[in-house]
Amino acid sequence: MNSLQISLRKSAASWRSQAIHIRLIRLWLGVTWIYAGWDKASDSGFLTQGSPTYIGSQLEGYAAQSPVGSLFNTLIEHAQYVGIFVLLSEFAIGFATLLWIAPTSAALGGFSMSVILWLAGGFYIRPYFFSSDLAYAVLWLSYFLYLTGGRTKVNFSINRRGFMRVGTVGVLAVIASGVGKFFSSSANALSPSSSTNAGKKLIKLSNVPVGGNHSFVLASGEQAILFRTKKGIFAYSKTCTHQGCTVEYSPSNKKLICPCHSANFDPFNGAKVTIGPANAPLPKINVKIQGSWVVLA
Ligand code: FES
Repeated sequence: MNSLQISLRKSAASWRSQAIHIRLIRLWLGVTWIYAGWDKASDSGFLTQGSPTYIGSQLEGYAAQSPVGSLFNTLIEHAQYVGIFVLLSEFAIGFATLLWIAPTSAALGGFSMSVILWLAGGFYIRPYFFSSDLAYAVLWLSYFLYLTGGRTKVNFSINRRGFMRVGTVGVLAVIASGVGKFFSSSANALSPSSSTNAGKKLIKLSNVPVGGNHSFVLASGEQAILFRTKKGIFAYSKTCTHQGCTVEYSPSNKKLICPCHSANFDPFNGAKVTIGPANAPLPKINVKIQGSWVVLA
């Protein structure tokens, strides 16, 4: 019996022996980590200098805003190796979790990665529960503690057969990365939205004081936000130009902030990027004042 067959048999037995709520957590973590690896492997820009999603740009953003920015600073010149390490690790942790191969080590790896990602881009996200990395850190830690059964001493030693099974995870990670490259597409900046619903009333002008803002949804389902200043009314899509998360306005620092990787956009200066990893401004939405209403132009 080869190591893959052994892994599959052990995996099936482990799934049968676990309670439903643990299976759910394990499935979610394993699948999400594999998806995270796939997302990077299939993004042709992830390892390509100059691309909006280049890992080096993300590291620069982390270096500028993280409380451990100097750590990320030292990694920038090795950005491509860091990127390869991250995507292989994500695949490996995901496969190991689902296949029950060194599950305790995989859970510890998932926890460590989540904490590092939280420090990288989520540390200053307010309120804190918008940071998915922090939530994943708690989930991985809980799963790790479940696996160790509350033991304070955990045995990470590995025998020859175990070594072969860990090797299987490595091979699966490399194969998945190669397949991802085959399906690669560039997650470039989103194209500006066209306001197909011209004339649609958004809000009564009197309900948006000067200095105020108002979030709304376009007919396409895209979220947007308008601002009123002494200079007039203007609006932007809330879809982050990095990887499409929804930005939110932070009144305290007057920026639109992405909860995923903490890109900052200045709505009072063309929604330009002030902190990466995004490097394109948010798409503008054309709005105007018509009578006593703010409408799509
Ligand atoms: S999706 Fe990455 S910063 Fe917004």
